[in-house]
Amino acid sequence: MKIYVAQHAGFCFGVKRALEIAYETVSKFKSAIYTLGPLIHNPQVVEQLQEEGISPVSNLDEIGDGILIVRSHGLPPSVIEQAEEKGLIIVDATCPFVKQAQKKARLLTQDGYQVLVFGEMEHPEVKGILGVAGKKAICMSNCTDLRNLRLSNRIGVVAQTTQSTETLALVVSELVKTANEVRVFNTICTSTQLHQESSLKLARKVDCMVVVGGKNSANTKRLTNLIDKEGIPVYHIEREDELNKDWFSGLLKIGLTGGASTPKWLIKRVSESIKAVGRKA
Ligand code: F3S
Repeated sequence: MKIYVAQHAGFCFGVKRALEIAYETVSKFKSAIYTLGPLIHNPQVVEQLQEEGISPVSNLDEIGDGILIVRSHGLPPSVIEQAEEKGLIIVDATCPFVKQAQKKARLLTQDGYQVLVFGEMEHPEVKGILGVAGKKAICMSNCTDLRNLRLSNRIGVVAQTTQSTETLALVVSELVKTANEVRVFNTICTSTQLHQESSLKLARKVDCMVVVGGKNSANTKRLTNLIDKEGIPVYHIEREDELNKDWFSGLLKIGLTGGASTPKWLIKRVSESIKAVGRKA
């Protein structure tokens, strides 16, 4: 059995950058350090960060004083204002691609468009973009949602950075049927596109795929769903002990990839375990 790893698997630029900022903050300051939600969507890495003194909290009321690191997903401006009012020091690790999506949403609002964010309503990045885009902005996740929305005649579209370009194109082609004017910024980040393209390329030449990444990671789930459409078995796991030898029985080529918040060491550990499990299959 041979194992192939996708060319672009694991940490993206924005996650690497956020981690560097976080470790730099630990070395610079003595104060308590917090993030609103986990810094990245990978429980193993979040555990390591906690050992360094970076604690995830679910809301600002849990924090007295100290430092708030803004995650790569960004935050709505109102939350940052609230944190500043509490006297917290803000360290901004928002991914530049997310900042760009926020900037485009702000621009569209200023130009009088109703902003439509193509993404997952509950995702923190989408909440941040909506926060920037004002009261009329709405979120939609697929073409079915469109039929239930009351939209203005001038629509400005931005996408959650980890969406797929194909689905964004579908949504836009539906929108032009209803609105007089549709202005679109493709804010899907290049790192997401490279992850998706290289994983799909690999999926087309192997017998099954294993995707490593947090179960709470939106981009890892999307990667798994996209591969699933290629018609080969695909397994999304967080850790190597979830592997099952029956998955690999009789297979010759196994593909391995990881989401944007999956560290390389975890992908390596899974690869070694697949080799060991494969020998028993
Ligand atoms: Fe940034 Fe794209 Fe990663 S938006 S956090 S580089 S997946």
